[in-house]
Amino acid sequence: MKNKDEAWNLVCDYVQDWGLRRHMLSVGAAMRFYAELLDENPESWEIIGLIHDFDWEIHPNLNHHPTEGSKILLEQGWDDETVRVILSHYTEGTGIEREKAVDFALLASDEITGLLIATALVRPSKDIRDVSIKSVRKKWKDKRFAAGVDRQHVEEATEDLSRFCFDGQLSLWEHIENVLGAMKGEASNLELDGRLAS
Ligand SMILES: [Fe+2]
Ligand SMILES: [Fe+2]
Repeated sequence: MKNKDEAWNLVCDYVQDWGLRRHMLSVGAAMRFYAELLDENPESWEIIGLIHDFDWEIHPNLNHHPTEGSKILLEQGWDDETVRVILSHYTEGTGIEREKAVDFALLASDEITGLLIATALVRPSKDIRDVSIKSVRKKWKDKRFAAGVDRQHVEEATEDLSRFCFDGQLSLWEHIENVLGAMKGEASNLELDGRLAS
């Protein structure tokens, strides 16, 4: 298993767009949170979140991402398990089914980070620590806001995570609060700590 520095170096090698880097940092934070909650390995879960879209800039379509990216990972000595989890976040294209807690956590954390980042960025303070769950609920209902975030897809992924890891007891809004809390803890790394306020 490679370490977090190696994961970040991979991201920096392949991803120049800050928005995509921020997306992966956000998913990494959510993954660390769930690993801690579920008594799993926080470092390896965070790394998976951190690199899961590393090839999106060079393979910006689902015919190639993440399948082609996985070949690069294996060539660079990344372990089979990390690669398997990453492939499982797009079963439709890769044929790799989600079967473990880490797989469900990755998919459930993936898209929702986009809505949370967008919600933080429309606040004058541009500080994610000012984002309340109430404001996220409003943005969730406004389908034109962060329209790329497929609400139904998030609901389904959360239900799967809930069923698999929480005996069906994790609600959508608890999950969103969890991810938001994890991201607030990384406000500075995400540059959502108010520095972008004009
Ligand atoms: Fe992806
Ligand atoms: Fe992603």
